[in-house]
Amino acid sequence: MSFGPLLCIGHRGAGGHAPENTLASIRKALELGAHCVEIDVHMVDGELVVIHDERLERRTNGSGSIHDYKFADLRTLDAGEREKIPTLWEIFQTLNHRAGVNIELKGVGTAEPVARLITDKLSRGWNQDHILVSSFNQAELTRFQELKPDIKTGCLVASAPALQKIKTALSTYFSLHVSAELASSELIAYAHARGKRLYVFTVNAPTEILRLQAMGVDGLFTDYPDRVFRITNSVRSRLRWV
Ligand code: G3P
Ligand code: MG
Repeated sequence: MSFGPLLCIGHRGAGGHAPENTLASIRKALELGAHCVEIDVHMVDGELVVIHDERLERRTNGSGSIHDYKFADLRTLDAGEREKIPTLWEIFQTLNHRAGVNIELKGVGTAEPVARLITDKLSRGWNQDHILVSSFNQAELTRFQELKPDIKTGCLVASAPALQKIKTALSTYFSLHVSAELASSELIAYAHARGKRLYVFTVNAPTEILRLQAMGVDGLFTDYPDRVFRITNSVRSRLRWV
């Protein structure tokens, strides 16, 4: 079974070209034609913020934990090239229906606020088929599914033992998101036999892009959406997952 051309998912926007998880990164992913973008969310001081790490040192000029900050103070930090740490709301505004969005629930306690925000966005014309919510955190993802059963969810897996565990629970998910070393023809067959997409992260090397495309995966998370389009025959088009 095939689900159509390879899906190009801009990782943290277009993290290889612009500061990851910033609005500049989202704009770059749009410019490069990514079908959708993946971003990481945490809940800080009552706001959904988009950043990968709980600590600030790697990607900002701040230090310490995001949870030690008030939202207003977090927003004064430089997340690279003078970009602010964005909110999830701003990500939706910047996308403006031009690409799908994969929200990764990175922080604890994000399921409920993300569900609320999605409800709001759906009431403002967003198509539910252009939103996919994922997490490594099973409890957070299950909570989200309880709140928004109609929104697609993807299970993130980065180790062989975790993969074994999740295979038996695959039925509740739209997609399985695995690290490149876990991708195999057998796993693709297993997922496809159950009607599930298999997406692979984070794939930047041209040889890996070609290898995984030939293997038959459904989509790639990449910091360089331009490479995926240059190397594969996938057509730049947007708003997939439908
Ligand atoms: O969602 C795919 C990928 O982003 C998962 O790993 O650490 O980059 O969030 P990470
Ligand atoms: Mg992520």
